[in-house]
Amino acid sequence: MFDITKMVKIMAVKVYKIYDSRASETVLATYNNLVFAQSPSGKSVGTYEVPVAPEGVDKAVLFAQKKVIPKLDFGINQKDFDSELEKLCGENFSKSGSAVSVALSILNLRISAYDKKKSVYELYNKNPKKEDLPCLLSNTIGGGLHTQNKMPIQEILGTSKQNDFSKRVKDGIQFYKSVEKNLNDKKIFFGKNDEGAIAFNGDYKESLDIALKSRPNNFELGVDFASNSYYKNGKYFFGNKKMNERKYLKFIESVIEKYKLFFVEDPVTENSFEASAELVDKFGKEKIICGDDLFVTNVERLKEGIKNKSANGIIIKPNQIGCLSKTKEVVDLAKSKGITPVISHRSGETCDTTIAQLAVGWKIPYLKESLMNGERISKINELTMIYNDLSK
Ligand code: PGA
Ligand code: ZN
Repeated sequence: MFDITKMVKIMAVKVYKIYDSRASETVLATYNNLVFAQSPSGKSVGTYEVPVAPEGVDKAVLFAQKKVIPKLDFGINQKDFDSELEKLCGENFSKSGSAVSVALSILNLRISAYDKKKSVYELYNKNPKKEDLPCLLSNTIGGGLHTQNKMPIQEILGTSKQNDFSKRVKDGIQFYKSVEKNLNDKKIFFGKNDEGAIAFNGDYKESLDIALKSRPNNFELGVDFASNSYYKNGKYFFGNKKMNERKYLKFIESVIEKYKLFFVEDPVTENSFEASAELVDKFGKEKIICGDDLFVTNVERLKEGIKNKSANGIIIKPNQIGCLSKTKEVVDLAKSKGITPVISHRSGETCDTTIAQLAVGWKIPYLKESLMNGERISKINELTMIYNDLSK
């Protein structure tokens, strides 16, 4: 029998090739041009991530349009949707890639919210409070793969410890502007990198010194070392230093102590579960030692990390694992083991704000982003809206 309701659904959902903030190809999914979802992409990518589009975005879009969308119902229970999606997209989304699968997974969630006339966060968080808004970890000074300069550290981040969300945003912006002012005062030329972070040609010491000097009160510094990018054949090539693991760990410890870092991401390379555990052992009581490339939002890798006590923080990026249900499984496991989840943007972003909604919906204590550029501030503005709604 011809089923008109199903037919309407099939015709209403479409995917398109679009461009992200770096003008790289990615995917937008839409339902009747009323509900939208877009996927991001990374540059400093972990080996174990789901690839964005194994055969290119054009083929992925065609595959979705012909082989995936016609077989799916939208606006249904998220777990059921994602499990059907994975069957059609290949195990671990190997046929479609994450650009298609994440866009469709988010679209399903957004259609559910649309049908129920709710915000995405309200689908998960039944009693939302403004205390559920995350602390921000704002990328403010850039290096590594995101920047053409001489700093091997990928990101110098700042976080405000104020209770009130709007004050946290103000502190983050004040930090950014104060770094700009300090560079201007020294007549040092700077620009912006892929994530809108300040890019100048200082080494790691100059960069961290400026950051330390520019901090507002109640403010702490963090770092994403993204150490995969300077690791080769068992050695760390950090600026002009070449170090074996032992020497390198001592060096990292000295940087953490000297700059009073409170958040330390991927200090060691993606397979170093044991070396990372040494840092947790030394600093884990007061600081967050966080895995990004180490875990790639993968539940099996997180289990390995739990067994080895490799981290007390985990970066959460839905496109590393391909859909929202698998992402939530990782968040839930991390929380149950006292590991702090940090939901994060990618360097190639769109104006999709789902991660901001999920931060409140899933009660994730930190959101990593940057406060500059439309594709990044859109997440903060979404949180500001939620903050205002919850403050009434
Ligand atoms: P990416 O970097 O989005 O380029 O992978 C971000 C990160 O390493 O945290
Ligand atoms: Zn990272």
